[in-house]
Amino acid sequence: VERTLTILKPDCVRKELIGEVTRRIQEAGFTIVAMKMTRLTPDTAGGFYAVHRERPFYDELCEFMSSGPCVPMILEKENAIEDFRTFIGATDPAEADEGTIRADFADSVGENIIHGSDSVENGKKEAAYFFTEAEVVANKA
Ligand code: GTP
Ligand code: MG
Repeated sequence: VERTLTILKPDCVRKELIGEVTRRIQEAGFTIVAMKMTRLTPDTAGGFYAVHRERPFYDELCEFMSSGPCVPMILEKENAIEDFRTFIGATDPAEADEGTIRADFADSVGENIIHGSDSVENGKKEAAYFFTEAEVVANKA
């Protein structure tokens, strides 16, 4: 089964949407195999989003991602990577399809509620950024 790494971002936690978004994730057929609440520092957020280092919004992104606690999870599903990105909607909530997480809950492209890995390879790297394999196995039914 394919895995993806998601993060309920600090705006999701601040808006008290952890429960609602998690319910929708499960309702959409994704199985949570690892989950924690943690707070990134600007440096650890920067490491996670290192591919965007040269982008003009990088500092703002690191500041936002370290502005409060977040909830990373590893999810399993057939075709998890692509299906999850469809499920959360476009990066800019103004362009996200109706009924997606970002269309329903996000305020802006900078504060867009949720992350989803963009490839199987990046998903593995991102999962390892937050979880040991033992933490994943421990949560599997
Ligand atoms: P992630 O799932 O968070 O990786 O989003 P994405 O894959 O849909 O978008 P991308 O990887 O291109 O950008 C990573 C994150 O950077 C986005 O989720 C946004 O939070 C932020 N971002 C992207 N473009 C902009 C922008 O123009 N302005 C600001 N402030 N943030 C941006
Ligand atoms: Mg991305």
